[in-house]
Order: sequence, then C-alpha cells, then structure tokens
Amino acid sequence: MALRNLRYEGDEILRKKSREVPLVDDRIRMLMDDMVETMYANDGVGLAAPQVGILKRVIVIDVEDGNIYKMANPKIISESGEEAAEEGCLSVPEKRGLVVRPMKVVVEYTDENNQAKKLEAEGLLARAICHEIDHLNGVLFIDRVIDDKIEE
Ligand code: CO
Repeated sequence: MALRNLRYEGDEILRKKSREVPLVDDRIRMLMDDMVETMYANDGVGLAAPQVGILKRVIVIDVEDGNIYKMANPKIISESGEEAAEEGCLSVPEKRGLVVRPMKVVVEYTDENNQAKKLEAEGLLARAICHEIDHLNGVLFIDRVIDDKIEE
C-alpha cells in the first residue's frame, strides 16, 4: 500500500464528476487500499477517489463501527429522515459546518471482490456515505452548510 497525495479545495478535480468503475480488479483494489491508508494517515473517517486525484466512483469509509467499507459505484436507492450535524472534510482542512443529511440510507455498491452489495446505514455511517458520494459528483460539504458560519 502507498500513501496518496490529498487534493484540496480550489483544485478543480474536486469539482468534476467521477466515472463509473466497470470492474473491480487488482488496480481498483490497490486504489482502495491506498485510499484506506491515506484516510487513516490523515485521521479521516472517509475518503473519495477524487480527493487523491482519481476521477473514479470509489469511496472508502471507516466510522469506527468495526467495519471498513470499500465501495465502487455507490448509489443511494432510498433514504429517510433528516438530521443536521457538523461535518468536516480532509480536502477542506480547518473548516467545519452544519449539514443536513438523511438519518438512514440504503446504498447499493460493488465491493472489493467485485460483488454487488446492499447496505442499510444510519447516523454517522449514513452521513459519511452521503458526504463521500457527493465528492463523486463534484460537491463539497461547504456547498451544503446551513448555518452560514463555517468555522475556519
Ligand atoms: Co470530504
């Protein structure tokens, strides 16, 4: 595994839409593993491929629920509830702000073994999934902040 360089707000790659991954092969698995290592090295709970300069629909998440999720082509197929909570982002260091997200989501994705999976998530895990999928569409949490007082 290897650390990858993070991209930061202002880098136009963070505003681009990522492409679907047709097959989770060794190359994608290596990307996923590198992303996990990079996430841990920066004390993050999630990371999306554009944050390391790769415009592919790949995200990794570890919200300390005992699981590391490595997802290709994640897609939210249903959501319910709403909850406002503070978010931050490794690509927008030193800023935090309140963002409204669904309480619960159901997400379909392809896992690191190229198997189709469906996951029901709530709370912080649901929030992390939504935040990381936003990255795949060129959206940053600062676009969604509701309290208008992003802390620097
Ligand atoms: Co982020």
